Amino acid sequence: MPPRVDGSDRPLLAVRGLTKRFGGFAAVNEVSFEIAQGEILGLIGPNGSGKSTTFSLIAGLHKATAGEVLFDGQRIGNLPPHAICRRGIGRTFQIPRPFRKMSILENARLAAYYGGSTRVTRDEATRHACEALELVGLPTDPHASVERLGAAGLKRLEMARALATRPRLLLADESLGGLDEAEVDQAAAMLKRIRDERGITILWVEHIMGVLMKVIDRCLVLDHGELIAQGSPAQIAHDPRVIEVYLGTDAQEVQRDTQARAGVAALPAAS
Ligand SMILES: Nc1ncnc2c1ncn2[C@@H]1O[C@H](COP(=O)(O)OP(=O)(O)OP(=O)(O)O)[C@@H](O)[C@H]1O
Ligand SMILES: [Mg+2]
Repeated sequence: MPPRVDGSDRPLLAVRGLTKRFGGFAAVNEVSFEIAQGEILGLIGPNGSGKSTTFSLIAGLHKATAGEVLFDGQRIGNLPPHAICRRGIGRTFQIPRPFRKMSILENARLAAYYGGSTRVTRDEATRHACEALELVGLPTDPHASVERLGAAGLKRLEMARALATRPRLLLADESLGGLDEAEVDQAAAMLKRIRDERGITILWVEHIMGVLMKVIDRCLVLDHGELIAQGSPAQIAHDPRVIEVYLGTDAQEVQRDTQARAGVAALPAAS
């Protein structure tokens, strides 16, 4: 666990024994982890391993079958989604669903009304929306239309909507394909800026490992709803179980990336 930037010992988020069953099927099974204030934590795993369900449990869209979620030391598992958002947890959805008839600014402004612990005026909501749009590089022009946004633009709007709610913890579900590596690289730089400039703690789901590993402090790995590993990017890249269930033939590339990041010369490829 990296040093806590606020100097306190308390994790910003603590998840304990979190379980979600759909009928007899455990989509998330006794998952426990913590996120320190100011950390960027990666969440990876094969399709259907429970990443988005974990997000929905934290954000209150699903009620847990068992286990608990503590945000800043307080249990939030019994709260509805809007109350959790007001406490300071923002999320993006894997599939963006903006209000297409509204402008980009109106979409972000609506989110600004929804979040935050106190009611905001229209001017304040507009200011929060514009700040969020500037942070993600989208136009604040009131006439700029959602219709013109491509896949990468819609992802940015999704991020701006989450940021406009003024979160302390951002759950970024970016695992949908459709972005090329350069666009994902830009998204990674944006998340790093969001953490570095705004101090927002981030839990990030992303399938493109090389990009993810460059930015995150630590990583969690899910498989069939179970947490099978957690650690630094280098630890995860060398974990035999993670290689078996997730990295496969990408393992050597990811290992080289994490070694380069750590300033260590890459090992020769295994034969
Ligand atoms: N509402 C639901 N009812 C029944 N099963 C569900 C429901 N939501 C998710 N599941 C199942 O739970 C499992 C985990 O799904 P989840 O969406 O969390 O996976 P994921 O790790 O986000 O996958 P991906 O990488 O494809 O986004 C999957 O088998 C999925 O079919
Ligand atoms: Mg998902």
